[in-house]
Amino acid sequence: MEVATGPMELKDKTAVITGAGSGFGRELARCCHAAGMHLVLADVDLDGMEQTLAVTGLTALQALVQRCDVSKPEDLDRLAGAAAERFGGTDLLFNNAGVIAAGPIWKATPQDWNWVFGVNVMGVANGIRSFVPAMLERGTPAWIVNTASVAGLVCPPDMAVYSASKHAVVAMSECLHHELAQTGQPIGVSLLCPGYVDTGIADSARHRPASLLGSNPEQSPIMERTRVAMRAGRLSAADVARITLEAVLQRRFYVLPHRNAIGGVENRLRDLLAGGAPNNPLRGVR
Ligand SMILES: NC(=O)c1ccc[n+]([C@@H]2O[C@H](COP(=O)([O-])OP(=O)(O)OC[C@H]3O[C@@H](n4cnc5c(N)ncnc54)[C@H](O)[C@@H]3O)[C@@H](O)[C@H]2O)c1
Repeated sequence: MEVATGPMELKDKTAVITGAGSGFGRELARCCHAAGMHLVLADVDLDGMEQTLAVTGLTALQALVQRCDVSKPEDLDRLAGAAAERFGGTDLLFNNAGVIAAGPIWKATPQDWNWVFGVNVMGVANGIRSFVPAMLERGTPAWIVNTASVAGLVCPPDMAVYSASKHAVVAMSECLHHELAQTGQPIGVSLLCPGYVDTGIADSARHRPASLLGSNPEQSPIMERTRVAMRAGRLSAADVARITLEAVLQRRFYVLPHRNAIGGVENRLRDLLAGGAPNNPLRGVR
């Protein structure tokens, strides 16, 4: 059932952004502020959120800034409650916070799995569970944007933990889309799948909890190569945020800002249908 029609209205509506202290989250905050929205910024990094306030030109009075660890369900519950109390509810939710771990899968540590899945997978699940029921109850138009990755559509070597977590975000988002459509309510979903962009993600271990230290022993050189690829990325975080907000306005589900990544997705599906072995997506388009 297709219920959502016409462009999304953003002015004077409320956006909640997780991972708002850096990278895409910061640029999404800037775009939402420019669109006239109230903002709720959430991150484990309070200094980062202060910087976001500074670069967006928002004052602490115009935005609610809240420390929130998305891997903790109670933190998302508190965030949803605070957004409702301050602004009357949430119209646009960005489940954006994410972290990365790298290295061959057989050397990934239990802590790598717990940390990355706690943030990337449970962070999105917690966001959906804490915010969507109130959106349904309110019955007004609302939207959810989940940040996955091109790594959620293809499976690059040395990225198993991260890629598996982002495949889970793709699956959760597609299921959420179908389930919301079945309600007949004007609530929709976008799935953001960017390629390499120069943000803070290559240094995401900066916020890794002490209880989950102990990364893949082969991570460092791989993250260094990933960092180089990110710095060479053709789109900036600001480009990705602008493209994402345009997609929300147009009510589009799949958001792939890096058009050159589509060849890799096509190749994977071709390999799958042919029943052979997958080609390495990092070897480029055949
Ligand atoms: N940069 C890229 O190349 C790229 C590509 C595809 C997808 N992504 C995804 O984009 C999203 C945003 O990442 P980014 O690239 O802007 O990186 P970033 O490191 O610049 O920003 C991520 C933010 O998430 C926050 N964060 C980390 N753990 C958290 C937790 N437990 N709870 C709340 N906040 C937490 C960090 O403090 C940081 O401010 C992530 O989901 C990432 O996987 C990034």
